Amino acid sequence: MKIVKVFLGDRSYSIYIKADILREAGKYIKELNLSNRVLIITNPTVGGYYLNELIKYLKEYDLIPCIAEVPDGEEYKSLEYASYLYDKMISFKLDRNTPVIAFGGGVIGDLAGFVTATFMRGLPLIQIPTTLLSQVDSSVGGKVAVNHPKSKNMIGSFYQPKMVLIDVNLLRTLPGRELKSGLSEVIKYGVIKDKSLFDYLKENISKIKELNRECLEEIIARSCKIKADIVSRDEREAGVRAILNYGHTVGHALESITKYDKYRHGEAIAVGMIVESNMAVEMNLFDKNGVVEQEDLFKETGLKINFRNIEVGSIIKAMWLDKKVLEEKLRFVLPVEIGSVIIKECIDEEIIKKAIKMQEEKDD
Ligand code: NAD
Ligand code: GLY
Repeated sequence: MKIVKVFLGDRSYSIYIKADILREAGKYIKELNLSNRVLIITNPTVGGYYLNELIKYLKEYDLIPCIAEVPDGEEYKSLEYASYLYDKMISFKLDRNTPVIAFGGGVIGDLAGFVTATFMRGLPLIQIPTTLLSQVDSSVGGKVAVNHPKSKNMIGSFYQPKMVLIDVNLLRTLPGRELKSGLSEVIKYGVIKDKSLFDYLKENISKIKELNRECLEEIIARSCKIKADIVSRDEREAGVRAILNYGHTVGHALESITKYDKYRHGEAIAVGMIVESNMAVEMNLFDKNGVVEQEDLFKETGLKINFRNIEVGSIIKAMWLDKKVLEEKLRFVLPVEIGSVIIKECIDEEIIKKAIKMQEEKDD
């Protein structure tokens, strides 16, 4: 088993990574000394595959599960469904010590995290993420949120879980497109912080795509460690945490222009990472070979790094509308070498346009 720790004083917690750890969920939750009643929040897709198993494993440790399901989809990460969950929580008569398990991908993690943070001013949250993206990113670090009709993740908070349990075997049922989307975030960690992770991905990408257990545990643990170290230093994104947004300034713009309908998150940030790398090359900060290395790895992974039928001007406009715009300045995370990035503001718009255009209509 691999264990990664997030150090945040009395809110510190562990991330346990192991194939089949779901079977031991009852044991780990029991060790937290909370109420015996447990609320599981999930959706019918994840629930359909794994809910009966999870209920059985919790009951083996005398835990008493209550279940709340929300439909599957980003559109249900909303205040309306938060309110639906509050109603359920009231009807279940939860108390301040009742653990809530977010059992699903990032949508469930963010929504369940948000209601858990706010119901009775906060219940203990346990993340059991079931997509690769949620295992390497959204379940760690405490960002919880729902979407506003006009802006994604606009209503939220920082609320750390008590524990994260990551079972790589759950990825066996994950659609291939979702796996690739998660891999994009793993590649991001390599570029921002860890060249040896990037090289490991290059060497093992075929095995990873075949869901080799050791490889998955390795890349998830290394990704979680990078995120955990950053969050331990800068929980509220006042500084270094912003480097986690490599590829996101452009990626978020692509997602929002296409109404969150065309791209999975990781697909959009893959394009974003290459555009932001192009910018770094234009500014003489980064060697062109570093862009090619990333492009090759994205292609091996099965992620596209070009886009079509989107106007460059609309991408720039959408970037300005993002909630990450600070003091009316666009911020970009730019690589200086594989494994190291810097944050830059006030970049000449011609450089940004040129870097975006380089990926427009580029061959697959
Ligand atoms: P998702 O939660 O929508 O899951 C993708 C699909 O996979 C869904 O249909 C889901 O039901 C299904 N699924 C989940 N686990 C499965 C499994 N084991 N087997 C089969 N199907 C499974 O998408 P996601 O990519 O996990 O998360 C995206 C969300 O995460 C977005 O809302 C994004 O804003 C959020 N996010 C949050 C953070 C954060 O720090 N809080 C970071 C990144 C992304
Ligand atoms: N996903 C970026 C962050 O958690 O800060």
